[in-house]
Amino acid sequence: MTIRTALAQGAELLARESVGEPRLTAEVLLGHAMHRERTYFYAHPEQELREVEWLHYGRYLDERMKGKPTQYIVKRQEFYGREFRVSRDVLIPRPETELLVETIVRLQPGRGNVIDVGTGSGAIAVTLSLELNRRVIATDLSFAALEMAKSNAMRLGATVAFIQADLLDCFADEFAEVVVSNPPYVPAVDRASLQREVRDWEPELALFAGPSGLCVYERLIPAAWRVLKSGGYLALEIGAGQSEAVSALAADWRNVQLFPDLAGFPRVLLCQKP
Ligand SMILES: C[S@@+](CC[C@H](N)C(=O)[O-])C[C@H]1O[C@@H](n2cnc3c(N)ncnc32)[C@H](O)[C@@H]1O
Repeated sequence: MTIRTALAQGAELLARESVGEPRLTAEVLLGHAMHRERTYFYAHPEQELREVEWLHYGRYLDERMKGKPTQYIVKRQEFYGREFRVSRDVLIPRPETELLVETIVRLQPGRGNVIDVGTGSGAIAVTLSLELNRRVIATDLSFAALEMAKSNAMRLGATVAFIQADLLDCFADEFAEVVVSNPPYVPAVDRASLQREVRDWEPELALFAGPSGLCVYERLIPAAWRVLKSGGYLALEIGAGQSEAVSALAADWRNVQLFPDLAGFPRVLLCQKP
């Protein structure tokens, strides 16, 4: 089978299962099977696949058709221009979360401690460490997530200290200058309406936050108040439709600001401890 035929057949199979962007997905999966960049296929459409490549490609197509996200198949996702390794132990970093990172990068905080709560793959902590050229501290409740984050930090050359902890429990009062978090915020009642790629494959602990989706914010915002120095910043990613409720939880904070994502929805809340 040639590359041209493999891509055409793969895209057709994926389209039949209503997989989004079937042609692009087929190219990514074939690239993974052949250890090639997608651009290679445009230059060599008539090249025959080796048997082992064809077998791997078939398996990846099958997995994708069963709902496994492409990123978990190829085990990587780009975030803020860098490649992060991902597994089913961690949430796949989302482009919206780059706005959260950008918000902190723009602040150019002083030399105090910066803590990323619920680091998952380490996307936020590693990126902040590299963009701000400083040590960052990251927590997660999941040991497996911390292992993945640690390996991303090492591979990308970031200086991050990882701690297994419940939110900010392990830190002393007034320890930090910045607390940043993309916490779980999906209401449990929305489970049925989630895309199957998310619901069936991404970690529960990374997604759900009680019936309203607010229960982690309800604990995290007071915890950040305790851990931040006066004048310190809290930056949170917020879910669709949660900006009013999360702003209300931050009513006692100063300079509460909401930043919209590319679709125009409030996505990041930034506030300062008085
Ligand atoms: C939405 S994911 C965000 C992952 C990563 N920061 C990102 O933006 O891609 C939330 C993360 O919070 C972690 N988490 C959930 N509850 C936690 C808790 N009580 N304390 C610490 N981490 C928690 C989950 O394991 C998960 O890694």
